[in-house]
Amino acid sequence: MSFISDTLARVKPSPTIAMTNKAMELKAAGHDIIGLSAGEPDFDTPDHIKDAACRAIAAGRTKYTAVDGIPELKSAICAKFRRDNGLHYDTSQVTVGTGGKQVLYNALMATLNPGDEVIIPAPYWVSYPDMVTLAGGVPVIVPCTMENGFRLTPEALEAAITPRTKWLIFNSPSNPTGAAYGREDLRALTDVLLRHPHVWVLSDDMYEHLMFDGFEFVTPAQVEPALHDRTLTCNGVSKAYAMTGWRIGYGAGPVSLIRAMRTIQSQSTSNPCSISQYAALAALEGPQDFLTEFRRVFQRRRDLVVGRLNETPGITCPTPQGAFYVYPDISACIGMRSAGGRLIDSDAAFATALLEETGVAVVFGAAFGLSPNFRISYATSDQVLEEACRRIRAFCEGLQ
Ligand SMILES: Cc1ncc(COP(=O)(O)O)c(C=O)c1O
Repeated sequence: MSFISDTLARVKPSPTIAMTNKAMELKAAGHDIIGLSAGEPDFDTPDHIKDAACRAIAAGRTKYTAVDGIPELKSAICAKFRRDNGLHYDTSQVTVGTGGKQVLYNALMATLNPGDEVIIPAPYWVSYPDMVTLAGGVPVIVPCTMENGFRLTPEALEAAITPRTKWLIFNSPSNPTGAAYGREDLRALTDVLLRHPHVWVLSDDMYEHLMFDGFEFVTPAQVEPALHDRTLTCNGVSKAYAMTGWRIGYGAGPVSLIRAMRTIQSQSTSNPCSISQYAALAALEGPQDFLTEFRRVFQRRRDLVVGRLNETPGITCPTPQGAFYVYPDISACIGMRSAGGRLIDSDAAFATALLEETGVAVVFGAAFGLSPNFRISYATSDQVLEEACRRIRAFCEGLQ
């Protein structure tokens, strides 16, 4: 009998982290590697945020804090929801965790009983199904095709709901596709949810501030106020404020849920890092104008990558509305052989051959539940992206 629990046999480590580690190892061994697999902005955390953290250290704010966040940060989060989303929460309806990841995990741990189902539109962020499994639930994967803009349709949502459905996980703009839902798309989904009052919504709004071409960001509790009392609206500072390493995320929802999540957190991580909480407070309360510049740079990079990939034989790349990912389709490459003699019989084989023959690290689509595709994170310089796209094109031109 294995010493490791049976649950772990059903859970896999994050494939995006695995790919990033593999690329780092190859780089450390002297190979010429371009890593496009990590999901984090390449910008540095803005100075006023770093300064707030330094001040927190100097002032001795280095002790345990309230389990799910300092009151000042919770107030700033309430103000953020009012300002950006027109959502009204009291501080008792807010929780702060060690990254958005922990907030989502706490929510699932606090609510799932064995056999409870969680609807996850695919392609999905790699962690959702495994988190659901770890919490004892059953991930119900609903494929969302490129033809539908990688968006969940109301018909597919309706068909996936059963009496065991507990949550729908909703993520717009999406990791890995960058696809976002407009108000009308979202309204069609919330109409379905209104007919099924037992289904709650876990809205992962992590990429809220990274929207392009003036596309309006909307979140379920805002579009349909009747869902307010069965929605956990999650967000964080990682992506918008270039703060992935600080590990601060937050969520807002009904008090009973927030209280249950606090219990999970109190028995696992106690509280998010005190210093990071003061940094997050500065991020939310400080100037927001640099977000416009972040968006402008990301939109330019998106256009560069989408343009280059669509000039590449075998690749079709839709234009995403947000985030910093593209999710091109490589159906036309499947069944071919690379210049290095590798059979490309899956998107995993494509990504492996691409890494080994050209040094470009991407993440294969199967990791996100929809194939054959791969994900590029374009949160890196134009120069690096140009070179990566040149290598991808040379690789695809070499396929036979
Ligand atoms: C869709 C999505 N949700 C949540 C997270 C978690 O972010 P963090 O834990 O850094 O706040 C990520 C990070 O990659 C993500 O892509």
